[in-house]
Amino acid sequence: MTCCNVDVGEILKGYSKEKGNLMEVLHKVQDSSGENYICDECMTKIADHTGLPLNKLYGVTSFYTMFSNKKRGKYVIRMCESSPCHVLGAKNVIDSFSKELGIKVGETTQDGKFTLEYCACLGLCAVAPAVMINEDVHGNLKPEMVKDILAKYE
Ligand code: FES
Repeated sequence: MTCCNVDVGEILKGYSKEKGNLMEVLHKVQDSSGENYICDECMTKIADHTGLPLNKLYGVTSFYTMFSNKKRGKYVIRMCESSPCHVLGAKNVIDSFSKELGIKVGETTQDGKFTLEYCACLGLCAVAPAVMINEDVHGNLKPEMVKDILAKYE
């Protein structure tokens, strides 16, 4: 895997070696990649800086679904599949995203623009079914709303 070309050293300069900074560092590195992921080289540099064993660091990025060590699209569509969203039609909504984008869950569009993922509860159950597209929240979704939502990212 090639490096994502993020200047991790520059980012890490702003953080002490405390492990409490880890989530913020991971977010910053991932956001700076432009491809919504943290490459292996960056992971090694973060592990060296924080003193956290590399395998533990990969444990963190694989546990939290907002992080990825694989290249993703500029916009990551994260569809909640927990029970309240599921009961209120999340499957039909994700099928609509899938159809509009021409990709399956877990895939990225050929132009590198969108990645489609499932995730656990986003804390947006009051507006279920819900998705997050990067930092944006979209709730009370119906399949027929998907086209207009995607148009906002064109
Ligand atoms: S169950 Fe979907 S946001 Fe909570």
